[in-house]
Amino acid sequence: MLLFDDTPWVQNGVSYGDTAIQAMEDLMSLLERAPKTSHIADIEAIPVPTHDEYARQRFCSLLRRHAIQEFPAALEADFNERVAPALKAQGETLDNWRAVDKALRGENLYRFYSTLRYNAQEMCFLSVQDEVERALPEMIEVVRAAVDLNPAGGSLALSLDFEIPPYVTALDVHLTPGCFHTEYTADDVAQAAVISLGSRVFTAQQSHRSWGGVAKVVSRWIKHEYPDLQPKRMLDLGTTSGKNLLPYVEAFPGVEAHGIDVGAPLLRYGHALAEHAGVPLHFSQQNAEKTNFPDAHFDLIVSSFFFHEVPVWATRKILAECHRMLKPGGLIVHQELPAHDLVDVWENYFWNWDTRNNNEPSYTAFRDQDPIELCVKAGFDRENSFALILPDVGAYPDRSNAFAWEEPGRPRHGRGGWYVFGSRKAF
Ligand SMILES: C[S@@+](CC[C@H](N)C(=O)[O-])C[C@H]1O[C@@H](n2cnc3c(N)ncnc32)[C@H](O)[C@@H]1O
Repeated sequence: MLLFDDTPWVQNGVSYGDTAIQAMEDLMSLLERAPKTSHIADIEAIPVPTHDEYARQRFCSLLRRHAIQEFPAALEADFNERVAPALKAQGETLDNWRAVDKALRGENLYRFYSTLRYNAQEMCFLSVQDEVERALPEMIEVVRAAVDLNPAGGSLALSLDFEIPPYVTALDVHLTPGCFHTEYTADDVAQAAVISLGSRVFTAQQSHRSWGGVAKVVSRWIKHEYPDLQPKRMLDLGTTSGKNLLPYVEAFPGVEAHGIDVGAPLLRYGHALAEHAGVPLHFSQQNAEKTNFPDAHFDLIVSSFFFHEVPVWATRKILAECHRMLKPGGLIVHQELPAHDLVDVWENYFWNWDTRNNNEPSYTAFRDQDPIELCVKAGFDRENSFALILPDVGAYPDRSNAFAWEEPGRPRHGRGGWYVFGSRKAF
């Protein structure tokens, strides 16, 4: 998870990425799709906060929103108006994000900003733990029922001796206590619920990931850009609980949709969610660096918010694995953080804050890479590879095509647009 701002962003009277309305519409569509006689309860509806927990969560949402939205704008203004002119007068050049980082390090405003942002992030996840703990036994029953009854026909394949990569176990990634993988009891789903519900607090109940906002953007663009591509089988890497797969299933009717992740609690939870919704998704616990899928198995491989959390050496292996798993003419589209040379100094500084402060040690190193070069090294053709900003569905309901980098009014990643990179495998 990254700290981008996905709350509605209003500029000149235009609301960019009105995620609240979109989330509501998506929720309605999901509920309509759910079989009226589903045997599987909605696992997500089981944890219920008390009045005080809810009040705490609302506070955390507002704090986090302040830390990610208003405060960075104030910090930027202070930097431009006070810090930078003083340093420039002493002959300093501030032409890269590291220089900005160094200049701000001792500043009180920066220290307050960082403290607030760090704590707001952590508090969002902590604020849902109690309700998850109370609901855990019932949630586990739902998972077991989903596995036994399997009404939608999806699947869940976990591996008892699975080795979770050290870059996941070594630290609580993005300050989520327990990270993606920790299990406290048999058939545990606690971490999945903490991540799902905590993300809603994190985004003020408007999680784009709850109902697959990014996947809507990417699937709309794929249909526009590659009308000949009719995926029969697709894969989502680092799928967490598979919510990002649902829009693809809708966009490409009949597609056999697979999601892999290293965290067993996430996959159990995803299986229960999908079986409740009546959507057959296939979850398996696999390391994306090396999977058990055959060669040329998929027409489409996607990911969202994934690569910035794995080291660059693993990224290279995963892209090569994508190339192996893709059919000729198949497509990879990975939504990620924009590379360093695509955005300005301040934006680079803003994104890279997470590297040191948010337990995301691979962040800056990933953004240092040329994504097209990464694809080429993995076996893809340069001329078929791309790095683009795609229009958000809420902000640009009528636009499917990508922005040109120099296009006037092009939105920033996370503010009306979404950065993706990828490639089409040669036929
Ligand atoms: C930030 S989350 C992705 C969020 C999700 N794709 C979404 O859009 O909401 C990163 C995910 O990647 C998973 N992951 C990390 N390393 C992995 C690997 N080598 N193979 C498969 N999954 C991995 C983590 O367990 C976690 O669920």
